[in-house]
Parts: sequence; structure tokens; C-alpha cells
Amino acid sequence: MKTIRDVDIKNKRVFVRCDFNVPVDKKGNIENDFRIRQTLPTLEYILKKGGSIVLASHFSGGELDLVWERVKHSIGENNISFLENLRLNKGEEENSDEFAKELAALADIYVNDAFGVCHRNHASVVKITEYLPSFAGFLLEKEVEVLNKVMENPETPFVAVIGGVKFESKSKVIERFLEKADYVLVGGKIGLSDEVRMLSSEKLILPTDNVDGFDIGPRSIKDFCNIIKKAKTIVWAGPVGYFEKHPYDKGTEEIGKEIIKNKQCFKVAGGGDTINAVFKFKLEDGFDHLSTGGGAMLDFIAEKELPGIKALK
Ligand code: 3PG
Repeated sequence: MKTIRDVDIKNKRVFVRCDFNVPVDKKGNIENDFRIRQTLPTLEYILKKGGSIVLASHFSGGELDLVWERVKHSIGENNISFLENLRLNKGEEENSDEFAKELAALADIYVNDAFGVCHRNHASVVKITEYLPSFAGFLLEKEVEVLNKVMENPETPFVAVIGGVKFESKSKVIERFLEKADYVLVGGKIGLSDEVRMLSSEKLILPTDNVDGFDIGPRSIKDFCNIIKKAKTIVWAGPVGYFEKHPYDKGTEEIGKEIIKNKQCFKVAGGGDTINAVFKFKLEDGFDHLSTGGGAMLDFIAEKELPGIKALK
């Protein structure tokens, strides 16, 4: 995968595909601008090297105005054009040739810095690479590097902590961790599901108690923490309880705190809810890497080739 370091950017127009699909609260404010902050190094690099930027993203919150305001506040607006929410054009999700050409006509170079959407076969992620010289941005480069390192060459003991609600959404990921990791701790509704109990494996550690079915119980917290203490590599994907609501936040908070307490260990967390939990409990500085990917990270770990990454190769 070539990166923006491999191309001369001076006086070039650079189409940068970001994933600024950030969470928005009930009052319409950005709840967490983590994804925006993570792409700033790529944007700053392009401007510093004398390029101009055509900035593009999708956004499930509708118009991108509040996102663009946040970007302008961080790096200004000189030499940056801001596009509309890409998904307002149906050609985006159809991976349409016509829409990709329209987008490509706006620039000389394409940069993908949107790891979170690389699992989507969309025009601004995949098709556009047929029409412009294409490169990865720094965020995408780091995501791929870190996730490859933990899945292919982890220091052991390697511990995966999985949570969440739907077994189907994590089943492939749990299987892959059962191949690669030494312990797979599964909490959340998934940890209590019948499906997970059918996966017999010595590596699989399930809750032995719970709080009203919404959180892992004190005995399970202790069991999970005892394993986390020994780890040299940890990947955390999914809260172990309904952390948005007290008192069901205890399991996720205790597990998160135990992970960052382990100083000898390489620590990665990812997925929308996990990242929200990490920020809620102020654990963000304790991790070596926080992934911006939700579905993209899960697909990557499950060894599915992400169309957006394949298109850059
Ligand atoms: C995400 O929030 O996980 C990404 O922005 C992808 O969004 P999508 O699931 O709507 O494609």
C-alpha cells in the first residue's frame, strides 16, 4: 500500500476521503471528535507540502456543517474545499462509475484516510481509485500496521476482550481470536448467549455471574481482571455491559481500568461503543492504539479483505 509520503504533493489537488461519521448528542452537538482529530496529521501534512485539499466524508447525522466547523476550527479553511455528505448522492453506495468520475475530476490525487469505511464498496472508497493515483493517509496506514501486528505477531499472552449485544456481529471475530489469542474473554449480552456457550474451547472465558443480564457480575470481573493482569497484548472490542446506564457500567469501567493498569502490555481498543466507553471512563491515554473502525475493524480482524484497502494495492 503506497502512502502520501510516496508522492509529490506540491501544487496538487488532493481528494481526501475521511470518515467523519462522528456521534452527535440529543442537542445536535458532536459528542466525540476523536475521528476528526485522528485525521488532522494527514491534512496538515498535505497543506504543509503545498497541496490543496478536497475534503469528503459520509455522515449519518445529515448535513456535514457542524463537522466542517470543527475541522475549520482545528486547521482553518485555507486551501480546503468541503464537499457535501457523500451519501446524499445515491451513486456513492452503488459504487457508481459516473459518481466516482465526478469526484475524481475534482482532484489530481486520491488519499484514503477513512479506515472506518474501508469495509464498504462505495464510489469514494473503491471506484474512485480507478481514476486517480491513490494513496493511504497516515491514519489508515497506522490502523493497518497496528491491527496486522496484533493479529500476526502479538507478544503473548495475547488476550482478547469481546463484548456487545449481537452474537452474529462478533461470531467470526471470536472464532479468529480463538485461533490467535491465548484467552478470549466474552462479556456483554454475547457472553450470556446460548450461541457463545456452544463454542467449546479452553481459551474461551465466559461470565459466571451477571447483574440483571445487563452487566458481568463481581466474580466475573475478578476472573477477567486476573487474566488481563498477565497479558502482554490486549485487544478490546465491545463493552462487557450496558455501560451507558448506571449501575450496569461497573463491569466495563473495571475491565477498562484493569487493562490500562497493565503497563507491560500493548493495548488496542476499537469499535464505536468501545471508544465511547474508553472516553466516558477517561481511559484514552492508557491505550497504545484506539481504532477508528467499527465494522471495518471487526471485518479486518475476521480476515475479510477490506475493499477500500484492496483498491489501494
Ligand atoms: C462507522 O461509523 O462505523 C463508519 O462510519 C461506517 O458507517 P456505515 O456503517 O454507515 O457504513
